[in-house]
Amino acid sequence: MDEAVIYTILGEAGFTKMVAAFYRRIKQDPLIGPMYPEEDLAGAEERLRDFLLFRFGNDPRYQAKRGHPRLRMRHAPFSIGEAEAVRWLELMDEAMDETNVPASIKLELNAFFTMVAHNMRNRQE
Ligand code: HEM
Repeated sequence: MDEAVIYTILGEAGFTKMVAAFYRRIKQDPLIGPMYPEEDLAGAEERLRDFLLFRFGNDPRYQAKRGHPRLRMRHAPFSIGEAEAVRWLELMDEAMDETNVPASIKLELNAFFTMVAHNMRNRQE
């Protein structure tokens, strides 16, 4: 399944709901929640959402606001080891279930999220 198919099936509304469910969990998470800017959680939610719309649907908003993603550089200020990557993936897994992301799409998104999450690790356990 390629990116365009995922985007067509899930749509902007599907990605938006999924990311909102993810950030509701982030807010309450004792391990990785404190890394996120309390005063700008809505902004953080929008950045991840726009990034995914860009990655899967070529939507121009992320690049217009943020330029090149440079995700490793942007995660460098945070201490991310195995535990943080696993937690991020668990919260996203729950968000996908809550918002009824179809199983076949969940599998594809999960492969992408897993690859990126482990790539963001900057701390040895
Ligand atoms: C491995 C565990 C991860 C941790 C602990 C983590 C943590 C964070 C934090 C604290 C921010 C700053 C929030 C903000 O103000 O925007 C952030 C930003 C972001 N993260 Fe992650 N993240 C992780 C994995 C991922 C993954 C897997 C993806 C992609 C699928 C991702 C995509 C992004 C994006 C797009 C931004 C906004 C970048 C920008 O500034 O434009 N992150 N992350």
